Amino acid sequence: MAIEILDPVVASRIAAGEVVERPASALREMLDNAIDSGASKVSVWIEEGGIRSITVSDNGCGIPSSELHMAFKSHATSKIKTLDDLYKLQSLGFRGEALCSISAVSTLTIQSDGKKMSCDNGVCSALLPGSVTEGTTVCMENLFENIPARKQFLRRASSEYSDCRKVFVEKALGFEGVEFLLFNDNSLDIRFPAASKKERAVQAMALTKEFAGSAHVVEMSLEEEPVKLYAVSGDPSCYRRDRTQVRVFVNSRIVDSYQLVQAVTSSFSVALPGGVFPYFYLFIENSPSLVDFNIHPSKRECKLRNASMIYGMVTRMIRAALLDRSRTESRRLVHPEEDIQPVFEIETKTEAPKPPVSGSFRYSQKAPEAPSFSDRQFRPSWLENAKQILGTGSSKSASRPAEKKSSEPEAVSENWRYIGQVFNTYLVVENGPNLLFIDQHAAHERILFEQIKQVPDVQKLIVPYRFETTPDVDEFLMERGFIYQELGITVVRVERMVWEMVSIPAAARKNEEAIADFIKKASGDTEAVQKDLFAIIACHSAVRAGDVLDNATAVAIVEKTFELDAMLCPHGRSFTYSVSKKQLDHEVGRDI
Ligand SMILES: Nc1ncnc2c1ncn2[C@@H]1O[C@H](COP(=O)(O)OP(=O)(O)OP(=O)(O)O)[C@@H](O)[C@H]1O
Ligand SMILES: [Mg+2]
Repeated sequence: MAIEILDPVVASRIAAGEVVERPASALREMLDNAIDSGASKVSVWIEEGGIRSITVSDNGCGIPSSELHMAFKSHATSKIKTLDDLYKLQSLGFRGEALCSISAVSTLTIQSDGKKMSCDNGVCSALLPGSVTEGTTVCMENLFENIPARKQFLRRASSEYSDCRKVFVEKALGFEGVEFLLFNDNSLDIRFPAASKKERAVQAMALTKEFAGSAHVVEMSLEEEPVKLYAVSGDPSCYRRDRTQVRVFVNSRIVDSYQLVQAVTSSFSVALPGGVFPYFYLFIENSPSLVDFNIHPSKRECKLRNASMIYGMVTRMIRAALLDRSRTESRRLVHPEEDIQPVFEIETKTEAPKPPVSGSFRYSQKAPEAPSFSDRQFRPSWLENAKQILGTGSSKSASRPAEKKSSEPEAVSENWRYIGQVFNTYLVVENGPNLLFIDQHAAHERILFEQIKQVPDVQKLIVPYRFETTPDVDEFLMERGFIYQELGITVVRVERMVWEMVSIPAAARKNEEAIADFIKKASGDTEAVQKDLFAIIACHSAVRAGDVLDNATAVAIVEKTFELDAMLCPHGRSFTYSVSKKQLDHEVGRDI
C-alpha cells in the first residue's frame, strides 16, 4: 500500500481516542475548561451515565462569539503560546486538543456570549443565536454514536456514571473555592459549596458510607522551598479496605502516582491494622518548572523533578503527625486530670462544616526528623497480632509442609487419628465414629488460600517479572494495583502498558508466570479479582493429587483442615468424604 496522508476525519478520530475513552474522560476535559475560565460556580448535568449527554455550565470568562469556531479546532488554545509557557503552567489545559477531540466523536455544542455553535462528529455548524450570556455552557451528546466499535466498550450507564462522579469529586477537591453541582438524570446528586480545603475534603470523604460515621479529621502540612504539602486525613480509627480514598493532587490536579500513594500508605501503616488504608487527601504544591504533565493526553501522569524530596517530605509529615498524636494520647493516659490539647487539629465533622480554626497544626518552619518507631510504647496491638501470626510460623510450615523438619507431629489428636495416604491422593483419618477421606490437593489449596488472605509472607523477586497489559488492565492496575499488594504482590509500572512484578507471596514461589498471566488480564470487580487470584496462587502452590506425602506433611494438612471454618475448596467444592462405622457395619452385614 502506498503511503498517504490520512483523511482529516479519520486522523481526528484516532487522535480523539487518546483523549476521550469514555464519558468520564470527556467530563474531565469539560471541567478543566470550566475551572480554567475562572468560574466561581460550575454545574454538571449527566444523562444516562454521560452516554446520552454531559452538560457543563460555568460562570467564567466566556468565549467571545467571534472565537467560538476556534474552540473546535485542533491545537487551538488560549492558555499557552510558547513551549516555555509549559514550564510556568497555571492552567489545567494546554494542549488545545480536548474540545476538538470530543467533537470528533460526539455532537458538541458550545454556547457563550449570546451565540452557539455545534460540531457533529467533526462537522461544524454555522454560528447561531444562543441563550447563554454569562460564562460558557458546553454540551456533549451521543458519544461514539457514529463509532459502534468504540461504543461497544462503554459499560452500563450506572458504571459510567460512577466514573463521572469520581472525576467530578476529584476536580472539586482540587478547587475548593469553586461551588460545584452535579445532577444525575436531572436530580441533584452532589453539591459542594465553596469552602476551605479542609472543608471540601471533609465534604468529599463524607460521600463514602464508611466515613459518614467518623468523627475526626486531621490536618497536616509541611513546607520546604519550593514544595508545600497539605493533607487532610481521616482519623486512624476510620479506614478502608482499599486505597481509593488515598488521593494525591499535584498543583490541584489529581495524579496517578503509585510511589506517592505508597509513601502515604507505608508511613501510615504503623497506625493502622494490616490490609487497611486511610482516608488521606494529599495536596502537593510544587514549582510548575519542576512538574511535567505533558506525558499522556489524560494528564493524570506527572513527572516530578524533585520526586525523592517530595516522597521524603510526605513520609516525615505523616510520621510526625502520627507521633504527635500518640504522644498526646500517652500523656492523656499518664495525666488524665490535665487538659492536654493535641498538637494537630482534630475537628468534629458536622453537617455544616465549621470555618477552619486558626493556629492549626503546621510544620511550616523546619521539618522534624523522621521519628524512630522502634522504641514506641504505643505500638499498635495489631502489629503484635500480626507478628504472632507470623511467629507461629503457620504460613511457612503449612505452605511448605514437606520441609517441616521439627519433631514429627502427632498423628493423633483428641478427636482424630491419621491413618495414611491412599491412591497418593486422599488422606484417610479416623474421626470419632467416621472414616474421613480428604482430597489432599483441595485441602492444601484451601489452607494456603486462608493463609495468604491473612498475612502473606512476601518474597522479593531477584529478577522482576515483566509483562505487558491491555489499555484496560493498564488503567485498572494504575487505579487498583494496590489490591495485589495486600496479597504480597507488588507490581510497578515501567511504562504505558508495561509492568513489572517485583514481589510475590513466598507461598507462591516459582509461580510468577501463572500470577502474571492472571494479572495482565484481570480487571473489573476488585473483590472478585482478588478472590480469583487467591485461588490461582493457592491452586498452583498446593500439593497435587499423585504427590506422595510424607507423614509430617500429611498430618500438617489434616491438622489445618480441621481448623478450617468449612471444608470447601476456594471454588466452593467440598473436598472430604466420610463413611460412618455404622454404614460400614451395614455394608458388611455386621448389623444384621
Ligand atoms: N468553559 C470555557 N470557558 C472559556 N473558554 C473556554 C471554555 N472551554 C473552552 N474554552 C476555550 O477553548 C479553547 C480550547 O479548549 P480545549 O479544551 O480544546 O483546549 P485547552 O483547554 O486550551 O487545552 P487542552 O486540550 O489541554 O484541554 C481553550 O483554550 C479556551 O480558550
Ligand atoms: Mg481544555
